[in-house]
Amino acid sequence: MHENSVVPENSTRPENSARQENLIVRTTEFAKLILQQYIAPGDCVLDATMGNGLDTLALAKMVGIHQGKGRVYAFDIQQAALDATSELLTKNSFDYFIVKDQHRSIENIVPHSEGGLYLYLDSHANIDRYLDADLAGALFNLGYLPGGNKVITTEADEFIAAVKKTAILLKQNGIIVIVLYPGHQKGKQEKIMLLDYMKLLPPSVFHAEIIETINQTEDAPCIALITRKKF
Ligand SMILES: C[S@@+](CC[C@H](N)C(=O)[O-])C[C@H]1O[C@@H](n2cnc3c(N)ncnc32)[C@H](O)[C@@H]1O
Repeated sequence: MHENSVVPENSTRPENSARQENLIVRTTEFAKLILQQYIAPGDCVLDATMGNGLDTLALAKMVGIHQGKGRVYAFDIQQAALDATSELLTKNSFDYFIVKDQHRSIENIVPHSEGGLYLYLDSHANIDRYLDADLAGALFNLGYLPGGNKVITTEADEFIAAVKKTAILLKQNGIIVIVLYPGHQKGKQEKIMLLDYMKLLPPSVFHAEIIETINQTEDAPCIALITRKKF
């Protein structure tokens, strides 16, 4: 694949662009680049696994938060993730709101007209308590917090519940991009359950696809894509 076939000449690239790096061997960067093709300034997007905030920051740039456009919802169950993400966003001069009230209420639902960056200390399985909007894109980067407690990791049941809810919130031609790490036991379970779910999606409404490395073991990280073709 030629690099220019993926990214238009004048688009904003995520850091470490395809020109400088061998993109397809960098799974998370490749995933973000795919997601970027579906996102325009002013869009509403979900970072389902906030972690240290690198993906949240990339999404904030994609939707134009600095220009007063777009909305990013980012979720994590760990205070350490919220702290790291807050620090990164502040360093990059982004304002954000933190939501810790874990109940669905009118106050928690961000009105369609309001842009901004919203950080939630809650599981992605609960996104329907907070999101009503049509999502242009969603990113799940599974596993544990880099540099954090490796015991706290994404769990298959919560993850699948979150993907199902996200699929309902997708707008037409919106996309869910998932980076899976089947090299550990929980990651393997996540991949098996996700593939089971994806196989059953009605092809007239959704397109579901997997990008896998074929010259490594089946434990290599891979990318799953779900896009809504129509309602
Ligand atoms: C690989 S990290 C994400 C990396 C991150 N996107 C970044 O740019 O640094 C996975 C994150 O998922 C979080 N996580 C685990 N279970 C979760 C859940 N149920 N809901 C939301 N986040 C969860 C972990 O706490 C961890 O921070």
